Amino acid sequence: MNLDALYGDGPFAPPPPPGTVAVPYQAQDRAKLQLGALTPVNIGVRIPPVDDLARDLPRVGKVAQIGDGRNDENLIVAQLHLAFLRFHNAAVDWVRAHEPERTGVGQVFLRARDLTRWTYQWLCVHDFLETITQPGTVDAVLTNEDDLLDLASRDVPYMPLEFSVAAYRFGHSMVRGTYDWNRNFGRPGNNTAKVATFEQMFQFTGRGGFAGPAQTLPGNWPAEWDRFVDRNSLLDDRFARRIDTHLAFPLSQMVNQVDDPTLPGAIQDLLKHLARRNLLRGYRLGLPTGQAVAEPSPSPRSPVPSSPKVSTRRSSPRCSRGPSLTARRCGSTYFAKPSAMRKATRSALSAAGSSPKPSSDTSDTTPPRT
Ligand code: HEM
Repeated sequence: MNLDALYGDGPFAPPPPPGTVAVPYQAQDRAKLQLGALTPVNIGVRIPPVDDLARDLPRVGKVAQIGDGRNDENLIVAQLHLAFLRFHNAAVDWVRAHEPERTGVGQVFLRARDLTRWTYQWLCVHDFLETITQPGTVDAVLTNEDDLLDLASRDVPYMPLEFSVAAYRFGHSMVRGTYDWNRNFGRPGNNTAKVATFEQMFQFTGRGGFAGPAQTLPGNWPAEWDRFVDRNSLLDDRFARRIDTHLAFPLSQMVNQVDDPTLPGAIQDLLKHLARRNLLRGYRLGLPTGQAVAEPSPSPRSPVPSSPKVSTRRSSPRCSRGPSLTARRCGSTYFAKPSAMRKATRSALSAAGSSPKPSSDTSDTTPPRT
């Protein structure tokens, strides 16, 4: 929520150890973040404003120099990251123009960083949260005088395991198979293609290799954000999909997901299948199944909450392992690590004494829709 991925260790951090990525700041003006340039191409048309080429992430080779490389995994998130890099730089200009009392690079940087963070946080609460919840829910939480999130009883906020491993993954159902991305890959689509596919969204990033010789984003691929912010549009492929029990088909064959070709094929297939990964992750971390949450508690000593009220109380310093029919909590934030996932997958497969079915089998997801 503090946009750490945008700022890294800040403009005055000591040089990082060789081989590590550090967020680069502009040499001539250290209050500003570096941007990357588009690679001009002859396919399709240039996206307005055509003379503005600073519309890629900063890169060394193809590797994005950003605080969290996962933001370069697909083009939508990469371009959103870029939008915030540019927002910060515009905020620097605004501070210099409107608050001349802030002198020196450090003061200007800190003020612009605050403005950018606050804007992001405001958008999260008043745009994103209000959009995905029932009308009135956000206001009801914000104006409630009780400490609904139990913040007073803890030293530091933490993220409940149920949130990261289950609840917040609802977003996976919102992902589309195709998007009306820009005038080359979307409407009118008479230049290159009528849509941008999910696969292209993962190809046209540094992690996807840009699907060609370009070392930076090709000039026909920048986002046209006005397509995605017009709430009155009736065009489906400019919006997230409905939050429901369906997943877009490409999420069963995720690209850019397996970076270790030495893994057995069955495990590679599993790692590319998002529904299976989510289920396995929940299983390994001992989350209750949906059925267990819906049913009355099987044991009076470990009651499952019977109301949908969310409790964020800490009750156990460690996460439980293995399948569980009771609600358990993990006392600290859980961060997914690919190596841990691989280890968990191997161990779960060997405990189950079986291999997963090939990824073409989508029997554990509902029929795909795009
Ligand atoms: C193209 C879109 C997306 C792809 C390909 C994707 C893929 C993934 C993958 C591979 C994981 C790790 C799964 C595991 O092994 O545990 C993951 C985790 C997660 N995803 Fe997504 N995801 C996408 C969009 C979203 C959205 C839109 C949301 C929420 C609004 C979301 C929320 C989460 C959460 C909360 C986690 C767990 C993170 C953690 O435990 O640290 N994802 N996603």
